[in-house]
Amino acid sequence: MTRRDVVFGASIAAGFSSGANSTTDAGKQHPAAGPQPRVAGQFWSNEQKFLRRGQGFDATNTEFFEAPLEDPAYLEVWCYTDRLSYFPGEDVRLHVSSTGREVSIEIIRDGKNPLPVHRAEHLPVRLHKLPANFYEAGCGWPVAYTWRIPEDLPSGFYMVIVRTQTGEESREQEHGFFVRPARSKPRADILFISSTCTWNAYNDWGGFSHYVGWGLPDGFRFAPRLSIHRPFARGIIRSPTGSPRKPHSTTIAPHSVPLYPVIDFAFTHGYSKWFTNCGWATYERPFVVFAEENQIQLDYATQLDLHSEPNLLDGYRCVVIVGHCEYWTWEMREAIDRYVAGGGNVARFAGNFCWQIRLEDAGTQQIAYKTRAHDSDPLRNTEHRRKLTTFWEDPVVNWPGAATFGLSAVYGVYAHVGVNVPRGSGGFTVYRPEHWAFTGTDLYYGDDFGGNARIFGYEVDGLDYTFRDGVPEPTERSAAPVGTEILAMALASNREIDRGNRGSVFYYGDGSDWIAKARYGEVNERTREAAARGSGMIVSFNRGKGSVFHAGSSEWVAGLLHRDVFTEQITRNVLQRFTRSP
Ligand SMILES: [Fe+2]
Repeated sequence: MTRRDVVFGASIAAGFSSGANSTTDAGKQHPAAGPQPRVAGQFWSNEQKFLRRGQGFDATNTEFFEAPLEDPAYLEVWCYTDRLSYFPGEDVRLHVSSTGREVSIEIIRDGKNPLPVHRAEHLPVRLHKLPANFYEAGCGWPVAYTWRIPEDLPSGFYMVIVRTQTGEESREQEHGFFVRPARSKPRADILFISSTCTWNAYNDWGGFSHYVGWGLPDGFRFAPRLSIHRPFARGIIRSPTGSPRKPHSTTIAPHSVPLYPVIDFAFTHGYSKWFTNCGWATYERPFVVFAEENQIQLDYATQLDLHSEPNLLDGYRCVVIVGHCEYWTWEMREAIDRYVAGGGNVARFAGNFCWQIRLEDAGTQQIAYKTRAHDSDPLRNTEHRRKLTTFWEDPVVNWPGAATFGLSAVYGVYAHVGVNVPRGSGGFTVYRPEHWAFTGTDLYYGDDFGGNARIFGYEVDGLDYTFRDGVPEPTERSAAPVGTEILAMALASNREIDRGNRGSVFYYGDGSDWIAKARYGEVNERTREAAARGSGMIVSFNRGKGSVFHAGSSEWVAGLLHRDVFTEQITRNVLQRFTRSP
């Protein structure tokens, strides 16, 4: 079955069954067996659409994705840019494919008050078919429009909206890029580094990502190589008001089914199944709006800039990373470690520090073999195998994640999704209220904060820990830097247990196998039991002349979005301390 068959068979929401529990976020991959795309079954009848579902149909574990139909009779428009960041004065090249005759382009500086900065109309376009390997080689569409960024354009995130119209029908699609600070201007105190490698990893446009894929050779159920020259799936750049975040916000009754509100929403409203796993709309944007409301100036860069520019961090008092930031290169970590040792301060309000990746082709191709690294990564039998694209704790790499940011995903990871800690408070419990980060919060030992905003989840970073005198402390196994203090924590899980509640389907399932291997180096009943348990933490430590503060939860920004006073005050405390004059 070809991609077109799948796409046509199911219209926009194409589907293939991937088997129960086969799609997860942090570590698990599809089972080794090759995929057999199976059309979920959508049938057209004049004006009505029908989704015919077999007995026992399981939408949670069925892939559905957005892809071009490439049918001249069906109106569609797609776009991407040649890069994800530019300096003022550089050219943004916009690649477009559309079955419309012409498109308009609007460019908006996004934030608390979105500001249109450029518009172009009546640009001729045409349909360009996707190459079979578009997901790793790029879509290869020609440049439809080039925009030279004005020299005085402020650093920030700029959304591109491309629209086409035929008669009454219209379509639009959004993309985006960062504008770096002009080299000639004074720098802000803070450099905000966006998690664009995690955006790319989860972007399932066309049906391929580091989590999904079909018809791939060697039994791969995900694409180990991804190009940035693809459109972003719907919802990654712009999400609808009122759409859910990954953690469920309701308190579930005894014997309830597991809840996955994002999958329900995405299936119902036609968004990417992965749209809140990553991206500007869900993670970076809420922090930027908070910064603007608090008059906190930011300069902007991407992970690729961190990877490729050794001097990127020079001169900044603080580096900030937020949201879901899971995929890093060796070079990125070295840059952060060097910066901290030299007196830099890093504030990571983010979860899921997990995988080493590599970047090739000037950073346009991202490589992550993950759980297949030891049988398929081309570096596995070479002298460069420390750059194997596996988890950081892998003995071949031997650079535990906690060594850089104080926490690691392998001691996390899930909370408040499905039946991974479904009735946790959604907040952090405070253990060191005397720490400077809590100044002015009035939080006491044992207090719990952020629960109403569900700041704890959906993927969190933790440590191996023990308790002493009522306070958690990192163990030797944790690999946390000397002097790491655990300020607050809560519990996470890597195993969804089926209690037989009627109507249950499970999305995350049991991830204890690979976590056991990552933590303990062996998989047996005892290590799997231990690996099923995890934690998420807030830690702080000094190293060299610098400092690191890490609130290890992808949903920390939900506390800013929902104006949780504790999350806001702690965030302000960290940024103020990390930007003060030495
Ligand atoms: Fe993740």
